[in-house]
Parts: sequence; structure tokens; C-alpha cells
Amino acid sequence: IPVDPFDLVIFGGTGDLARRKILPGLFRRFCAGQMPPEAQIIGAARSELDDEGYRDFVRDAIHEFAGPLSEDDAQIDEFLERVGYVAIDAKGEGGWEELKSRVRDDLVHAFYFSVAPALFGDIAERLHLHGLAGDESRIVVEKPFGKDLDSAKALNATLAKHFHEQQIYRIDHYLGKETVQNLMAVRFGNVLFEPLWNAQYVDHIQITVAETVGVGGRGSYYDASGAMRDMVQNHLMQLLCLIAMEPPAKFDPDAVRDEKLKVIRALEPVEPHHIVRGQYDKSANSQGYRQDVENPRSFTESFLALKLHISNWRWAGTPFYLRTGKKLKARTSEIVVVFKDAPHSIFGADAGRHRNVLAIRLQPNEGMTLDVTIKEPGPGGMRLIDVPLDMTFADALGPEAEQATEAYERLIMDVIRGNQTLFMRGDEVEAAWAWTDPIIAGWTARSDVPKPYDQGGSGPEDSMMLMHRDGRRWRELKG
Ligand code: BG6
Repeated sequence: IPVDPFDLVIFGGTGDLARRKILPGLFRRFCAGQMPPEAQIIGAARSELDDEGYRDFVRDAIHEFAGPLSEDDAQIDEFLERVGYVAIDAKGEGGWEELKSRVRDDLVHAFYFSVAPALFGDIAERLHLHGLAGDESRIVVEKPFGKDLDSAKALNATLAKHFHEQQIYRIDHYLGKETVQNLMAVRFGNVLFEPLWNAQYVDHIQITVAETVGVGGRGSYYDASGAMRDMVQNHLMQLLCLIAMEPPAKFDPDAVRDEKLKVIRALEPVEPHHIVRGQYDKSANSQGYRQDVENPRSFTESFLALKLHISNWRWAGTPFYLRTGKKLKARTSEIVVVFKDAPHSIFGADAGRHRNVLAIRLQPNEGMTLDVTIKEPGPGGMRLIDVPLDMTFADALGPEAEQATEAYERLIMDVIRGNQTLFMRGDEVEAAWAWTDPIIAGWTARSDVPKPYDQGGSGPEDSMMLMHRDGRRWRELKG
């Protein structure tokens, strides 16, 4: 279904995120027929380009990043008719009047802040001064949303000077992933799972976001952040909230975000021995983390594993194990719910240990599997085996599922529709930092040194021990 006509201005329109994600994503939505003919996309950045110059840039971005659709030159030309450019000075006056003249008052207009957070205040202020911050305006801001509680509060306060909370869309692109939404459908659309979704039946939950890539060209940003600020405070925290929250009364933005916030506020402080930090080592043919970030004395973590507890009625006593890292052996993001043993085995000790495991895979091969114990077929007596009920979306739903909308596309369309459900509210971000800050302060005070780990492996040995000590193990990383 097409969205309403809109103007979308992308500050940082020539940047990396625009090139890789935002522009190709918009093109894909255009091809899907979701973009009305009147839609207008305006790149805004410092470079002195004109409309034609920017269209060339967008064309290249589509060719490089839009997948199979990028072959279709006729569609690209048609899309580019909707694209324009304004050279703008975020800290000065240049370009703002022109931008004002291009944005149509009577349509939804969204301003995407795909720029360094240091510029958020300047841009918000100028949007206001030039009459572009009215009630029809929405702003979209990217992570990192601050680097600690104080800076996040300051950013929230800056934006709040000119925009209401209902106009602010804080992106966490993990919330736009297909499976993340499916997680809510599975939990709250079925009668099967929710009665078992608590400390009485769940032994523990694992959340893994493993990457094969290193820190690439983002060394200076990453070295000042580390896995905690880059991944855990936002993406893993959001996954934790969705898996652990109480059922919201309805699927509406504030109802969902209220429940997520309660989870974050119920997190217990993390014990130092429940934290494992790692840094990838150099290998025979590739540099280590410290060379990648060009900081030979860096103590920043490129891997983090944590054991958490949520102090509430539902989860008291159930541990949540989180891990994320770069340069690991597979790109896998998954949430694994491991259920408890059946209370009594009628098959005797020889039948071995069998557990129901629900694995929710975000990437790759989005889908879910539920391990169920059955009798091994054949005449060999009552031998039990675990078989997965496989709900791989591509198999179950056919090729349509494979063309799944990418996170950014979905989220941008939600901005235009005015649906904030999949965006973080200001208090949520602050609560996540309030939980994160003391953990970072703790390891800084202890002068904790991250453990080196091999590239292409599963992270430091200590992260295995974090589980083994409790008689548990991580699910193997498989791409
Ligand atoms: C970003 C992080 O938010 O998420 C990156 O800054 C990380 O460090 C990326 O690589 C992972 O996203 P995805 O969608 O590839 O899992």
C-alpha cells in the first residue's frame, strides 16, 4: 500500500549510511510501488553538488547496493526524478532558505539526521529558525544516541527544545529486522508459547549477535565505543526487551515501549565475574584489533559476553546470556530459548537428556526452529531423539519471504506513516545508558584488559566458561 506523499530530507545525504542503506532502501520501496508519485527525496550535505550531480551519486549507490533491482535502468531513471539536492551548511546559513523553498508545507516532511550527533543541535535549531520544525515535521536520528547517560540526556534535551517526543524517531535498525517483529507475532499471536515463557519453564535464554567483519574503516569511532556501546546498549538490549517484556495491552507505540522500559529498569547490576571482554588478535594473514584501530595500547573490547538477571516476577532466577563480537567464525544473530527438562522422565536414565529449544534466527536464513523430542523411528525400542520443527521463512513462505524488506526500508516507511512502535523513546535510551554506565565504570576502575581471541573462532575461552560454570553451553556459531 503506498504511503502518503512526503518530502524526505537526508542530512548527510552523501555519507556512507545514505549510500549503503537509506538511498538503496528508498529505491527498493519505490520499485515495490510503495512510494507515491509526488514523493520527493532531498539530499543535503556540505558538498557543492547540483541536482544532477547528486542523482549520479544516487545512481551509483543503487548500482552498488540495491541488489537485483539495480539492473532496471528505466526504474532507476523514474526514481531519480524524485531526487534533488541542496548544499547546506549545518552550522551556518548557507542553503537553509533554499531548503525551505523546496519542502512543501502541506505534506509530511521528515528530516533524517544521518550526521555526527555533534551536529544534531545545530540542525534542529536551524530547522526551527527556518520554519521547518512545525507539527508536520518528523526527525529521524541515528545511533550512537550519546555515549553515556549524561550525553544522552543532553541530546534528548537539545532535540526537545524544538520537537515533541512524537516527532522524534530514534532508529535502532535491529527493530526493523523481519524476525524481530515476527518474535512479537510468535509470542503474542499464539497460545502455545506465552504460558511457558517464564522462569518456571525456561532454563535460560541466549542472545548472540556474531559478526565475521572487523572494525573496518571505522576505527576511531569504534575504539571510543567498543562492543558495549556499539551493540549491547542498543541492539542486544532491544532484543532482550522484546523477548522478556510483558504482553503489551495493544500493539501501539507507547504500550510496547512502556513494557520494554520496564524490562530495562528491572535489570540487575552485573557482577564483574559475569562479564567477559575480548579483543581479536592478529592472525597469520590479517591484522589484529589494535592495528585495525591504530591504537597499540587500546583496551576497548571487540567482543563482550554477559550474564544478566531481570528482577521481576516472570524472570526471577532465569539467566540471560548475551554475547556479541567481531571477527568471529560466522555471521549469526539469534535468540535461543532453552526450556527446562521435563519434570520426570518415564523413559529412564538411558534415554538421555532432552530439552525443547526454540531458536529464533535473525540472520542469515531468517526463521525459527523448535527442537522437539520424539521417538527415533525403527524397531530399536524407545530411543529418543530431538528433531527441529523448522520454520525457515523462505521454505515456509516461498520466494516472497526471501525478498523481505530490509530493516531501513521498513523503518523509513514507518516514519512516513507516523508509526513509532519500532523506534526508541527517549526514556528507553536513557534507561539503557543508566544500566550500561556502571558496568563500563566498573571495568575502567578495575583496569580490565580484554582477553585476546583468535579470529574466526567463537571468542575468548572465558566466554565459554561463563556458561560451563553454570552447566550450560552456547549454541554453536553457524552461518
Ligand atoms: C551497527 C554497528 O549498528 O550494527 C556495527 O555500529 C555493526 O558495528 C552493525 O556491524 C551490525 O548490523 P547488521 O544489520 O549487519 O547485523
